[in-house]
This record gives sequence, C-alpha cells and structure tokens, in this order.
Amino acid sequence: MSYYAKHLFVCTNRRDKPCRQSCGDNNIGANAIDYLKGHAKAMGLMGVGKLRISSSGCLGRCNEGPAIVLYPQGRWYTYRSESDLQEILEEELANDRIVTRLLMDESISSE
Ligand code: FES
Repeated sequence: MSYYAKHLFVCTNRRDKPCRQSCGDNNIGANAIDYLKGHAKAMGLMGVGKLRISSSGCLGRCNEGPAIVLYPQGRWYTYRSESDLQEILEEELANDRIVTRLLMDESISSE
C-alpha cells in the first residue's frame, strides 16, 4: 500500500509577467487549495494511508487550467468554482467516482 492512497497536486503557480494564463492568477490556485484542504480535513479524508493535498508549481497544462492532478490515479481535473471543487471532494476523493465533466482532455497538449 502507498503511504498515501491519493495525492492531489493543486497548481498554484504565479507568473511575474502575465504573458500567459497561470493557475495562480487572481489567487485561484491558492484559494482552491485552501478550500480543498479545509473541507477534506473536515470530511476526515486526510492522513497517512488516505489523502494528501499539496500545492505545486506549474503542471504544464496552463491553457487547460486551473489544473489539478491526482496520483496514482493519474487523473487531471480543472475547475471553475467552489462547487466544482466540492464535487471533486465528494465524488473522486471521498468515493472513488470519476467526475467526468471536470476531467481535462486526455490528448497530448503543450504549455
Ligand atoms: S500554471 Fe498551472 S499548469 Fe501551468
């Protein structure tokens, strides 16, 4: 068994020069990780053998973001609202159900 059953990485990358979209624009990524961590703790999802949520630098899918990725499942999600994040918490993280409507395209993309 893995140390964590699930490890969710939330991109919080901010670019000093806003030459292109980044997940840290307007604190989107930072607000998302605060929301996810707070609610995951309250739901009892966090801890060894369960879930860890970490901020990350650029995950390389800026144009499709804001980006989050779940390992070892290897599922990439995006979100637009707290209700999207809540759905990821309740479905994917708590009940192992894929939130199809929030999945990123699986085709190869470039930054
Ligand atoms: S800035 Fe978030 S994926 Fe690149």
